[in-house]
Amino acid sequence: MVHEFQLARSARNRSGKNARDARAGAKQAFYPSGARMEESIQNITKSLKACLGVPHDQARSMPAEFYTSSAFLEIEKDSLFRRQWVCLGRSHQVSQPGDYFTTEVVGEPLIVVRSHENKIKVLSNVCRHRGAILVEGAGNKKTFVCPYHAWSFDTEGQLKGAPQIGDRQDFVHKECRLPRFACEVWEGFIYVNLDNTAPPLGLQLTDLSTLIKNYHMDEMVELHGQETVWETNWKCLVENFMEGYHLSTVHQKTLHPFTPTRLCRHYPAGEGYFGYFAVFPDEVGQRGAYHPDLNPEERQRSVMFAVPPGHVGSVTGHIVTYLYLQPTTADNVKVKRGIAFLDQEISESDCQAAVDLFERTMAEDKQQLESLQRGLKSKNVQTAPLAPADYEGNVWDFYQYLARKLL
Ligand code: FES
Ligand SMILES: [Fe+2]
Repeated sequence: MVHEFQLARSARNRSGKNARDARAGAKQAFYPSGARMEESIQNITKSLKACLGVPHDQARSMPAEFYTSSAFLEIEKDSLFRRQWVCLGRSHQVSQPGDYFTTEVVGEPLIVVRSHENKIKVLSNVCRHRGAILVEGAGNKKTFVCPYHAWSFDTEGQLKGAPQIGDRQDFVHKECRLPRFACEVWEGFIYVNLDNTAPPLGLQLTDLSTLIKNYHMDEMVELHGQETVWETNWKCLVENFMEGYHLSTVHQKTLHPFTPTRLCRHYPAGEGYFGYFAVFPDEVGQRGAYHPDLNPEERQRSVMFAVPPGHVGSVTGHIVTYLYLQPTTADNVKVKRGIAFLDQEISESDCQAAVDLFERTMAEDKQQLESLQRGLKSKNVQTAPLAPADYEGNVWDFYQYLARKLL
């Protein structure tokens, strides 16, 4: 359990600190942070427990420390980002053998590469010699050569060369390789599981796959990508992307004409996803080149989906927009975002119009969420009822997911 884990760790820290604390004497009274930390983790745990099995019409927001506690963030990094499936990018980014890009998951350097066996692999980007970062950026390579002492590895991670090391009994060249992590591609998105023990992602997303299959998201190609840091807790951004309650207020001029709050419709969450339909008013017509498989209902809505912990997206007939989120601190999140288009021959002006709308809405959200984070640091934040499931139900679905994974 989260708080047991945290409490055990805190107890270890306390016993290790006893001698120092005794020497510090009265000074210790000025540093009560350990006790405060435990109390805050206990509060969060209690609130998460209280979500389990509770219907949407009794949903309430979480206490502020859920979004501000650094101790809780460390638990989230360990139990979510290192143990669950985390989205890294699109498969079209590595379409040819040797294509690669580098990235990180909560501090773990990674190479995403299409191997010479034509399979997408996620390898450690840390040299097996003495730990240097092997490669930066993106490109196409047959081998990754370490810039430090020139050990080289093929696209499967196998050691190919170790200059001057020679033959030694305690070192078998062919047994030396870069660690490789579990990887799955779903609808064109590449995911990694760092501890290699998460249940298969595709199975967790079966019903979501049925819901969105006619959009043919796997055929969409990223034509716009950005990376920034937002000064908000990562969960605020997941929740914000996944609730339609704010669409008609924060995005009055941008999204409200297409996807007003009043038309949002929640759909049931599954083990590894949750989401809602952002329905277009009747007067909104086709917004680009749609796949012919789409039925009239599918043409008239976006499917909002989250594959937690850190991937949220919105698929419409002509595009999918998405964020990959990774927390850095309790009030900072790295936001990679992109748009992939079904029609790769789209005119520059139509492409730019979609990019502009997306970036304008992102700027509106950023401003709102950074202000929210300032508010959450107040000592006067209280919990409150959430809006009905169609509008804020995904916030509750997200709490339930976190309760299932963390408790
Ligand atoms: S650290 Fe990579 S070759 Fe030495
Ligand atoms: Fe928004």
